[in-house]
Amino acid sequence: MLQKFNSIGHISGELTLPGDKSVSHRAIIFSSLAKGISVISNLSSAEDVNTTRKCFEQLGVNFELRNQKLVVKGKGFKKFRKPPESLNAGNSGTTARLISGVLINQDFDSVLIGDESLSKRPMKRIIDPLTKMNGKIQGSFTNTLPLKIFPSDNISAVHYKLPVASAQVKSAVLLAGLHLEEETTVIEKIPARNHTEKMLGLKVVKIGNEIITSVSRENYPSAKEYFVPSDISTAAFFIVLTLLSQNSELIIRNILLNETRTGFLDILKNMGGQISVINRNDISGEEFGDLIVKSSRLNNIEIPEEVIPNIIDEIPILAVAGLYAEDKFKISNASELRGKESDRIFSICENLKFNALIVSENDDGFSFMGQQKIKSGNFKSFGDHRIAMAFSILSLLLKEGGSVDGFDCVNISNPGFMDQLKSVIK
Ligand code: S3P
Repeated sequence: MLQKFNSIGHISGELTLPGDKSVSHRAIIFSSLAKGISVISNLSSAEDVNTTRKCFEQLGVNFELRNQKLVVKGKGFKKFRKPPESLNAGNSGTTARLISGVLINQDFDSVLIGDESLSKRPMKRIIDPLTKMNGKIQGSFTNTLPLKIFPSDNISAVHYKLPVASAQVKSAVLLAGLHLEEETTVIEKIPARNHTEKMLGLKVVKIGNEIITSVSRENYPSAKEYFVPSDISTAAFFIVLTLLSQNSELIIRNILLNETRTGFLDILKNMGGQISVINRNDISGEEFGDLIVKSSRLNNIEIPEEVIPNIIDEIPILAVAGLYAEDKFKISNASELRGKESDRIFSICENLKFNALIVSENDDGFSFMGQQKIKSGNFKSFGDHRIAMAFSILSLLLKEGGSVDGFDCVNISNPGFMDQLKSVIK
């Protein structure tokens, strides 16, 4: 579907967004693992999260929506049932990778499939560590989906140094280790998002330049109540829209402020963005608060390589901010972007080039000069929700508006995107 956008006046008002996607996936997984009733409030409305729910339904977990809360009747330790058919992870890398850590520990075999995009994404990154744990997991000959997982009676703990900064890989190993008496450790140099650790209350220590997380059966979750703070990666689109619009001010409520996710806020603030946080709060280890964002003049700054895992999902919208800022915008050391829902380096560069903007594409990033001018633009989503939303925001900012082809994929993370926009555009 082609979505057209007219140039906007200004942004004002208040937004309350659905729950964070990463935290929601984990709330569903942990409450499915736990024995008994868990209740999740402010769950994400993302299609990806629904995909995780459906996979656990196939494994025998019961879900019921009551008063806008998800009530989960979890199965308990190794009590899932053999799924009647292949488990479909749809577009969701988080579902596919995290559930694999659970499935290698079950005493039935299972097959994991996904959509066209997910079927191209790398799975060797989880096959390797899970095989080291004696898991029986096989990918296609290109180490992609479908994944076939067989029961193994000698799964064992591992001490695994993450070769890529990836929360999905880290979480797959931690979830596998959660089923073992012996202690599994995961060692990171550059921290990826840490929701699995926080939500399970795992022991994390820093020794020299290494972050070491330990997990064992002792950390196996019990049934509980979860509150999911609102999605900071969804908020990112509204933050940049407000910063770049004239005479604008927006309050965004209850936004997740986990330190492994707030890197883009620091970058935007250092670029001159007026963003402040009020009403900080903390429930089940995850911090959240209200953001106040005001129109600002931005200057591009150097983006340090070590912050890339922290801002990995916000790079498309940061690039839009960079386009309006003075000086050069540059992303490097971000080859992970090529393995996302689309090859995001290619998708961003193609969209800019197609609209006569000058950009230089590298293996591990891209760069361009800010304040290049275009009046209108025709953009493509490349089937990637974050690309679709980033270029929707750019379209709204252009003098003569713009369009995004293949817009429907925004549902992957935020089906309410258009309604939320309408409520704040004045
Ligand atoms: C996620 C981890 C990130 C991120 C993805 C969600 C998660 O991927 O891009 O959207 O919930 O664990 P990495 O595995 O590259 O860190």
